[in-house]
Amino acid sequence: MSEQGQRGTASIRITEVGPRDGLQNERRVLDVSQRVELVERLADAGLKEIEIGSFVHPRWVPQMSDTEAVAARVRRRPGVIYWGLIPNMRGLERAIDAGLTHVATVMSASETHNRKNINRTREQSLAEIRAIAEQVAARGMVLRTYVSTAFGCPFEGAVDFEQVLSLVRALADLDPEGISLGDTIGVGQPERIEAGCRRALEVLGADRLVLHLHDTQGLALANALVAVQAGVRRLDSSVGGTGGCPYAPGASGNVGTEDLVNLLEGLGLATGVALDRLVTTSRWLEQSVGVRLSSRYYRYALARSFYGTASA
Ligand code: HMG
Ligand code: MG
Repeated sequence: MSEQGQRGTASIRITEVGPRDGLQNERRVLDVSQRVELVERLADAGLKEIEIGSFVHPRWVPQMSDTEAVAARVRRRPGVIYWGLIPNMRGLERAIDAGLTHVATVMSASETHNRKNINRTREQSLAEIRAIAEQVAARGMVLRTYVSTAFGCPFEGAVDFEQVLSLVRALADLDPEGISLGDTIGVGQPERIEAGCRRALEVLGADRLVLHLHDTQGLALANALVAVQAGVRRLDSSVGGTGGCPYAPGASGNVGTEDLVNLLEGLGLATGVALDRLVTTSRWLEQSVGVRLSSRYYRYALARSFYGTASA
């Protein structure tokens, strides 16, 4: 573990979503062994929660076909949680068959994005998540729920946060382990993110609120900072700053895991993640997907190693 990985006192839970959110938006489709290698590298870096893929329709998101094969080949390490994203009951069945115990459902706060993303009305999605929650509880599995477009929708624009909170309350009744509020297209401004997090913390508490930030406007890190200052203790991030929802036009990558870890450790908040290993993972990933990764810390580490001032 890096020096930074041990310095902090209070701690933050990071869920690494690179193998799912990160890869689902890449033009180049990684094969199963590359996807498995990504998960293993992330676990080597010290990440304790990794979303290894999704069980969505392969025609809708070809990058995520064969998540069963990824799940079968990932080495299960004690103390590491392996999440699978499921859009519906069929997704749950597939995740169960793949041997996963932790599943994350997704629906949107806005009607249009929900229809475009998972082809259902919000009412239909909520009913299906209720049924999924029953199955998950009956089997002793663990549920997390995403609320997408919580801070803005690519089709409808502004989203009423009271509406988001009533959805959060309805989902909280299903007893999920966490509810992740997604700034799907990265339109949240720090003031609004902070206010939203304060309200959501009142409903969920710091144990259950998760924040999922995309960096479309370059504000994800600023938003993470104000959220943490408001009391948020769980965040999603993606190695190298990869990601984006294929059904949210213009959505760019998630806050980069390197950038988030660098920020948090600098604030004295422990993450347990080794920055140097993330950097080597991003370098490998950049070559694998064939596009320049956007994480600022990653780019900084590369430049630093180029100039010979330190090894990345
Ligand atoms: P649909 O066409 O409405 O599905 O798609 P359907 O229920 O009408 O069924 C049609 C056929 O699909 C049937 O097969 C089903 O069995 C099959 P047939 O009988 O015709 O042979 N099917 C499935 N096959 C595999 N896996 C499944 C599945 N479900 C049905 N799970 C569906 C509905 C939800 C499947 C589709 O819309 C879909 O796959 N959507 C996923 C889109 C997606 O992956 N988006 C990105 C992830 S969400 C995100 O990025 C946001 C997040 O990061 C947070 C944030 O940033 O805000 C989480
Ligand atoms: Mg996302």
